[in-house]
Amino acid sequence: MKRSKILGVGSYLPSQIWKNSDLEKMMDTSDEWIQQRTGIRQRHWVDQNSSVCTSDLAIEASKKALENSKIKKDELDMVILATLSPDHEFPGTACFFQAKLNVPGIPALDVRQQCTGFIYGLSIADQFIRTGTYQKILVVGAEVHSKGLNKTPEGRDVGVLFGDGAGAVVLGSCEKSELSSMSHILSTHLHADGQFARELWVQEPSMNHPGDRMDSEYIKTANFYPQMNGKNVFIHAVRRMPEVILEALSKNELNTNQIDLYIFHQANLRINERVAKQLEIPQEKVFNTIDRFGNTTAATIPIGFDEAIKAGKLKPGMLVVSAAFGSGFTWAATVIRW
Ligand code: UT7
Repeated sequence: MKRSKILGVGSYLPSQIWKNSDLEKMMDTSDEWIQQRTGIRQRHWVDQNSSVCTSDLAIEASKKALENSKIKKDELDMVILATLSPDHEFPGTACFFQAKLNVPGIPALDVRQQCTGFIYGLSIADQFIRTGTYQKILVVGAEVHSKGLNKTPEGRDVGVLFGDGAGAVVLGSCEKSELSSMSHILSTHLHADGQFARELWVQEPSMNHPGDRMDSEYIKTANFYPQMNGKNVFIHAVRRMPEVILEALSKNELNTNQIDLYIFHQANLRINERVAKQLEIPQEKVFNTIDRFGNTTAATIPIGFDEAIKAGKLKPGMLVVSAAFGSGFTWAATVIRW
């Protein structure tokens, strides 16, 4: 029986840093409000005048992941890219990414599960490896939010939250008999409830307009920017994340104390603190990056892996739990022996 192990991790943040104070005038916000409500101090954004897009950030993170995994890109059997900020409406960003990585011929799959996209992608990769279909898969989460945010006072509730960035992991196949000594994904757990799809979404452009969708009046509205019912998202996040973490632990006959490190999605520091409190997880076991990077959606978890390794907090042999909640609504968790 095959299992997936993490061969290497990489991440990339664009060099321009926007502190909360840089947004104050633009969005009629304040450093105090942002820090108190979210824990964010700054975020990285791509050069707003450049043509840099999501697949470019994905490439940078993936090169590092490949280097750390000590495998060559030509050994990859598949690439999976999770994003909510695609380069173009179609084809999928994974195709642009695959061309830039120069690995023609192998399958290139987009995952559009937003904040939960990386765990969905990891789960898909894990299934292909478990069945023996593929041996080496690159899973990337990448976002360029900064070019799609409403940066006026009307958009401040969402605009201050998001950062650009990318994170990647290379998964490889291992035999179940080797598992006691090797890192591997123990399980993944995926959920969605589409009745809440409009609680965090981009409304326009949409095919639900009669006739040519571009004839619609939408261009006069701000409906092509992300909109969020923040309070409702928060309420569901602090319910669903503990739920799916307990589901993942129960499946593996583990309890919260046996987990060495928790690397959660980074939507709001308050969410992660509430989740930890509910499950009686000591805050020092939760690794957060939101203060430096904001919410990079599909990229938060692989960036978290990479940052935790660099900080010496994530080491081989550790038991790690990741969980995410976001637009869709979608939520998911995974347990990994690192
Ligand atoms: O990763 C995707 C999943 N996303 C999430 O999980 C996010 C979940 N939601 C949240 O994290 C929080 O709801 C937010 C951080 C987005 C907002 O915090 P909140 O405590 O729910 O604030 P609020 O939306 O209720 O707004 C409170 C006040 C309002 O003013 P009034 O009506 O009390 O006068 C807002 O207009 O704060 C105002 N406000 C702001 N003020 C300064 C909203 N955004 C801002 C801002 N700066 N950026």
